[in-house]
Amino acid sequence: TQYDLIITNGVVVSDTEVQEWDIAVKDEKIAKVVRRGGLKDAKAGKTIDAEGGYVMPGGVDAHVHLQEPPLFGKGSTADNYETGSRSAVCGGTTTMVTFAPQKKTEDTLLDTLAATHERAEDNCYIDYSFHIIVGNPSEKALSEFKTLREEGISSLKIYMTYAALQLHDGQILDILFEARKQGITTMIHAENGQVIDWMTAQLEKQKLFAPKYHASSHPPMAETEATYRAISLSEFMDTPILIVHVSTPAAAAHIKAAQDRGLPIYAETCPQYLFLTKQDLDQPGFAGSKCVCSPPPRESAADCDAIWDGLANGTFTILSSDHCPFRYDDAALGKKSSVSAEYPLGRFKYIPNGCPGIETRLALTLSANRLPLPKFVQVTSANPAKLYGLYPRKGALVEGVSDADINIWYPEGKMVEFELRNEMLHHDVDYSPFEGRKLKQWPRYTVLRGKLVWDRENGGLLGEKGYGRFVKRGSSSLAKPSKEGEWVLPL
Ligand code: URP
Ligand code: ZN
Ligand code: ZN
Ligand code: ZN
Repeated sequence: TQYDLIITNGVVVSDTEVQEWDIAVKDEKIAKVVRRGGLKDAKAGKTIDAEGGYVMPGGVDAHVHLQEPPLFGKGSTADNYETGSRSAVCGGTTTMVTFAPQKKTEDTLLDTLAATHERAEDNCYIDYSFHIIVGNPSEKALSEFKTLREEGISSLKIYMTYAALQLHDGQILDILFEARKQGITTMIHAENGQVIDWMTAQLEKQKLFAPKYHASSHPPMAETEATYRAISLSEFMDTPILIVHVSTPAAAAHIKAAQDRGLPIYAETCPQYLFLTKQDLDQPGFAGSKCVCSPPPRESAADCDAIWDGLANGTFTILSSDHCPFRYDDAALGKKSSVSAEYPLGRFKYIPNGCPGIETRLALTLSANRLPLPKFVQVTSANPAKLYGLYPRKGALVEGVSDADINIWYPEGKMVEFELRNEMLHHDVDYSPFEGRKLKQWPRYTVLRGKLVWDRENGGLLGEKGYGRFVKRGSSSLAKPSKEGEWVLPL
């Protein structure tokens, strides 16, 4: 046959337009994108009738923690590469960028990379790459950036908080300097760790231990200050950065102001900051711990609205899950591990930070119906691909160029609104922070490199573990220094 797969009667949404197009797939790639009806004489191994539903490039989730060692002073994350990528594909995400974390006690980054490859290899349902977490910017580690880049790793993450990972400003400059030279994009977790530690000690002194005090211990100021500091360091070094998981309107305002000045500052937010507030941490008993992540959900719906606005106006380049799951009821490592006979409400400072969300990111956001469709495709697929050197192979449906990674959604009126339940999900986690949310959409079909890997009504998960491949990434097509040539010491 001429094609492996044809998708007809879809409404194709790209990052710039919405069109009635039909799509043909051959040898894992998008072969043709033509006006509706234009493929009616073509022969294909399989045809999917989208029945008027939206057809989009598969989701790209660029912030995922899987099978990480206990770096945040707490347990290992719950999902491994198999269960995390399985959950991803069942929610329409076809590419993920997970973390390869270097510990403070390690000298080299290349061992970290090799160990992470080993965890992922033959275990993934979807395509994947890694960001390196630099915990120790030793001379050796810095000298390895060049090799990382050659190995297809064009981004790294650093932390301004968490005792086990927190870097001081001189170390951050060391990293930005070397990252600039090698064309690596630096992601920054911008929270002031000392402010958080100080607040935590004050709350502990007053015996305020319940999960809701996690939010008090991470005041917006800690994020706003660190965000401005990160922007300042980036401007000084003329090196692009991406501020991860932004939750605070004041931090978003600093980012917007920097962007308006033409600086290469990029930012990410996550569904947690669109859908959850501090009140979600204040639930009966210990249940509030299910929504403990860092930064925490903020004060009120007005904060969420401001974050939505930031997505709509381009302050946030990408929307990632920050999938970083810990089980709720797991005495050794889960959220409840901070509960003891003495502290039946647990002590917030021992609750592992992070929530699951790799499977719910796309459906939650599309169901909310608050973004223009091309904007939705930008922030969930095209932009993460551009930012992290995967575009247009990922995040697009370009003839002869893009991998055939495709989501087909339900046509208007075909899906009845339903309430999200954790048992619908495919992760290895015993809760979702979004339990009970009303959803109007879910991916009906998902295609990864031409193969139907999710068919919600006929078999559900059809993909196979091991089909997902490591993708070597190029340089960012967005994040570049504003000046060419070597950085010169200002005198
Ligand atoms: O609470 C969070 N976000 N945990 C994951 C670690 C991180 O900082 O991304
Ligand atoms: Zn972080
Ligand atoms: Zn994270
Ligand atoms: Zn299922």
